[in-house]
Amino acid sequence: MAEALKIGVAGLGTVGTSVVQLLEKHGEQIARKTGTAATVSAVSARDRSKDRGIDVSACAWFSDPVEMAKSADIDIYVELIGGESGAAEDSVRAALERGVHVVTANKALLARHGVELAELADTNNAALNYEAAVAGGIPIVKTLRESMSGNDISRVYGILNGTCNYILTRMEAEGISFEDCLADAQRLGYAEADPTFDIEGNDTAHKLAILTSLAFGTKISSDNIYMEGITSITTADIQAADELGFRIKLLGVAQRTDTGIEQRVHPTMVPKSSAIARIDGVLNAVAADGDFVGEIVLVGPGAGGNATASSVVADIADVARGDRTSALGMPARDLKDYQRARMRLHEGGYYIRLSVFDRPGAFAEIARCMGDAGISLESIVQKRQSAEEPPASGNTEPPQPVILITYETTEVAIKEALDVIMSKGVVAEPPQMIRIEKLN
Ligand code: NAP
Ligand code: HSE
Repeated sequence: MAEALKIGVAGLGTVGTSVVQLLEKHGEQIARKTGTAATVSAVSARDRSKDRGIDVSACAWFSDPVEMAKSADIDIYVELIGGESGAAEDSVRAALERGVHVVTANKALLARHGVELAELADTNNAALNYEAAVAGGIPIVKTLRESMSGNDISRVYGILNGTCNYILTRMEAEGISFEDCLADAQRLGYAEADPTFDIEGNDTAHKLAILTSLAFGTKISSDNIYMEGITSITTADIQAADELGFRIKLLGVAQRTDTGIEQRVHPTMVPKSSAIARIDGVLNAVAADGDFVGEIVLVGPGAGGNATASSVVADIADVARGDRTSALGMPARDLKDYQRARMRLHEGGYYIRLSVFDRPGAFAEIARCMGDAGISLESIVQKRQSAEEPPASGNTEPPQPVILITYETTEVAIKEALDVIMSKGVVAEPPQMIRIEKLN
């Protein structure tokens, strides 16, 4: 067996501790499979005195991860700190500059600096592996980068955030409040250090930026990805979706269109009959459409220490085996700039929930506004509100929830129609609008 590789693990939180545990439990089996042992010889975190339930007393301790990354005693630097800059970025750069292989789960870092870091890895003949950065335990990076490399990919999409899927699933199934579901996701180690990254869609956008690059051979860019999180989703929307044959999922979608690559993150109505509708809890699903293979869908746990450690250790095993694939599937200098399709040109069906004043002519006004914008309605459902609910301030007639489902139209037409409806004074509050995705 080749000489053992020495691993430095920076970050001993949810993922870092699971990685140490996994290597301790399965280290020998991995060594047999790869032909090279890989053992944790150094660690770094902020608080040395914290009880983490793991024994790292035999490892060198570094309070500064950059120093660890620069240490001559490290062959593989595993970054599990998080964040797009600061210690995570500095230490990864330091490792790559020295030609030390890097494994990271940090999608924020890759979404911001992925191309530069991939170039640095290419220049210094080092691996930059990051399977855990997208969809936790699902091997989608390897699938796109290696297994689907013979295909032209037209679309990649999926449920990419475990925290949001966990929240939406429990709100629907158990009627638990958004806040309580989020607190549970944090307790279970699914959420980011700053959970607004999960619930506002940033984390999904970071992952989508990476997937877009892998799928289309483009530079990574997370700026200006169209992004809406799940904070505006109410139990009224979840119930209405259920009654209309949909479920609500936070999707990230990147697809080729005639005007460029469309990249969007938003809550989405998906048909209950679709495969994606059945992805519950912390599970993620990622689908990619290849011209030769057709659609491939991968499902698995998208967050949590053990699932994420599984991907981190697979990346370590690739290094131990001597596998070297360019970080983004091709030399970083060959990645292309790309044209992003404008969201206003997005085409699809829409769910719209209006709170309509119950007075003569209000419905006719709404229908006229939609018709004037060239929007055809597939269905209109009026849901009688309970008498206890007070009327909106300044109005005597209690507003009634009305749900519209449109046929396919454009984003710009919907936005214009809703602006006109608002200006007519027939609705009590800004409309709720959720895009509908046609899926199998
Ligand atoms: P976490 O539980 O918050 O752990 C972060 C660790 O980094 C802690 O051990 C912390 O030390 C350490 N740290 C913070 N700043 C440091 C610094 N300046 N120097 C040295 N150590 C520092 O985070 P996590 O959930 O394990 O996530 C780690 C990374 O994996 C993030 O990039 C995250 O996005 C990614 N990821 C997480 C999951 C998941 O399910 N949790 C899944 C996929 C990817 P102390 O413990 O001493 O405070
Ligand atoms: N916070 C992330 C999520 C962790 O919930 O999906 C996995 O990337």
